[in-house]
Amino acid sequence: MREIPFHRPAIGEEEIRSVSETLRAGWLTMGPKTLQFEQAFAEYLGVPHAVSVSSCTAALHLALACIGLKEGDEVLVPDSTFAATAEVVTYFKARPVVVDVHKDDLLMDVEAAERAVTPKTRAIIPVHHSGQACDMDPLLDLARRRNVHLVEDAAHAIPTTYKGRKIGALGPLTCFSFYATKTLATGEGGMVTTFDEKQAARIRVLRLHGIDKDAWKRYTKEGSWYYEVVEAGYKYNLTDPQAALGLVQLHRLEALHEARRRIAEAYRDAFASMEGLRPLRVHGERGHAWHLFVILLDLERLNITREGFIRTMAERGIGTSVHFIPLHRQPYYRDTFGLSAPDFPSCEWAYQRQVSLPIYPDMTREDVAYVIEAVRELLALHRR
Ligand SMILES: Cc1ncc(COP(=O)(O)O)c(C=O)c1O
Repeated sequence: MREIPFHRPAIGEEEIRSVSETLRAGWLTMGPKTLQFEQAFAEYLGVPHAVSVSSCTAALHLALACIGLKEGDEVLVPDSTFAATAEVVTYFKARPVVVDVHKDDLLMDVEAAERAVTPKTRAIIPVHHSGQACDMDPLLDLARRRNVHLVEDAAHAIPTTYKGRKIGALGPLTCFSFYATKTLATGEGGMVTTFDEKQAARIRVLRLHGIDKDAWKRYTKEGSWYYEVVEAGYKYNLTDPQAALGLVQLHRLEALHEARRRIAEAYRDAFASMEGLRPLRVHGERGHAWHLFVILLDLERLNITREGFIRTMAERGIGTSVHFIPLHRQPYYRDTFGLSAPDFPSCEWAYQRQVSLPIYPDMTREDVAYVIEAVRELLALHRR
């Protein structure tokens, strides 16, 4: 039997060489490689500022600090997301206001977001779920009309485009993740992109203890031992070995993306004619990063549960997952903010049916065919 894990990182000799060289250079924390990675990332997206941090969670935290989020403020977040999107709001004693998503693409329902805006709303954090962009035009319009900030959670979204424009170079503040499973991986890591020089400078200060400028340079030849702490910051910097990985992954991004795109195409072609499931909707004018490939089981036509499907796939050596358990089902968010399933009908409906299939550049054609065949057989066996 084949073993197809849910994820395998795309780390090759180039990455290993780049990290080894950096280790030999002897700079273990933030340094010249990190700056090189930031510059290359900003150039790739065509934005003036990219500031690296230790994770997307840190990126979201500092982006919210940048817009001056305060106790009692409200921030709209989608129901189908990882806890990080909502948790950063609570760091400020502000309230995450959970908004339903569309059942066919798991992206924030902009009309539901509009209804959730109150005089306390300070920001919206749309999530580009799976690597597909949210509907950015109406979101940008809503943010402008209601005078609220837009901070994009682009943890899944490189390379992602919306009407030909790259995510990261579209909205005012965008947060990326380089977590181990992401499309550009450094193990742990993140980035904030912005057009605003003041915001970039503030994030640079906050990510290293609130030290006023170029704190990392104090151990270089041109640096000085003297520094000033101008506010209480955080320890949120990226490191040079991570950046060395990131630079190679960025260089390979188009090739890695092409490999993901081909797997997605093979899945979509095969599933188009299969009864009993359908993949998430793909919007024609949006370029998908294919971080995740999510299918929705047609439970009404099957005599197998989602759990049964996942178990049977595992018995055939195929790893799957679910992205995500909705916030309204997480005990902390449910109980603290009084969330219940009937208020999020679309997300709840999708959650009961959704499964994420393996999709990563190192999957061979045979691996992909094996997954497709397993799904085909399983559905044939369990069709009502
Ligand atoms: C939608 C979303 N937002 C934020 C994060 C947090 O990213 P990180 O692990 O880099 O902090 C994740 C991580 O999985 C995510 O899926």
